Amino acid sequence: MKLTIDSSSYQVLCHFLKSSSGIDLGSNKQYLVENRLSPLLKKFEVLSFSDLLPYLSLSTSFAVRLKSAIIDAMTTNETSWFRDDIQFKALQNDVLPEIALRANSAIKIWSAGCSSGQEPYTMSICCEEMVRLSALRANIQIIGTDISETVLAEARKGIYSDISMRRGLDNSFYQRYFQEVSDGYLLNSSVMRHVRFQYLNLLESFSHLGQFDVIFCRNVLIYFSDAVKRDILIRLADSLTPGGYLFLSSTETIPIDLNMFKVIRGHQARYFQKIS
Ligand SMILES: C[S@@+](CC[C@H](N)C(=O)[O-])C[C@H]1O[C@@H](n2cnc3c(N)ncnc32)[C@H](O)[C@@H]1O
Repeated sequence: MKLTIDSSSYQVLCHFLKSSSGIDLGSNKQYLVENRLSPLLKKFEVLSFSDLLPYLSLSTSFAVRLKSAIIDAMTTNETSWFRDDIQFKALQNDVLPEIALRANSAIKIWSAGCSSGQEPYTMSICCEEMVRLSALRANIQIIGTDISETVLAEARKGIYSDISMRRGLDNSFYQRYFQEVSDGYLLNSSVMRHVRFQYLNLLESFSHLGQFDVIFCRNVLIYFSDAVKRDILIRLADSLTPGGYLFLSSTETIPIDLNMFKVIRGHQARYFQKIS
């Protein structure tokens, strides 16, 4: 049964979500909260939204699990293969070859807010394609991070349903990089071996991940306030090697006064290079 949230409980919950995950629901998403959290409250045997509120400021192991499940349930995990495909054309044909020629160690790539894995695995397919179609060789290490343990578990499996396979994947890639298994389509080990997954909340420090040649942070910052977005962009710049590349989605921009990036255009895509 769907529970109803009153306006003061909604405000407390919004504040919790914003301060713990950056997710900014705005003033009228009560229906979304009720739809997504009613089953969760039932599972945790919390009887109402007002009964939930005290747990939001507790640190008992029950409260910690409940809070993490709430954040997980409120994330929007929309993704697909080769999403915004011109960006992957630019990655495969311009960015990766340029880095492969100058790199003397592994090429490190980060998919920040990777959802169920299609983005980092698409990067890995691009790397495989670059090697297949050119004389270039590269040792590629890709990390996918997300705040949702649910999508990370899906990503780690590397098995995708019929429906998700139909979203963005060319037939030739399906034949080259997947095999049919009883519960869907499993990625080949040639693609999976480059990619690992890790829980990470972008609001917290990520300097321990080290530095990357390429970062994709697409369709994630759109959920955050301008101040949080700005803070994350500055820290993403710190996490790029000199001359490294940042991809946001084609509708996202970098504030004009953040002058650590220059705009690059290629294959009709627009992306950003860290100014060394
Ligand atoms: C809309 S999906 C985008 C997936 C992929 N980047 C793409 O463009 O297809 C946004 C992802 O960001 C994640 N996310 C939201 N808030 C986050 C945070 N504070 N830290 C890390 N990931 C977060 C969500 O769990 C979700 O999987």
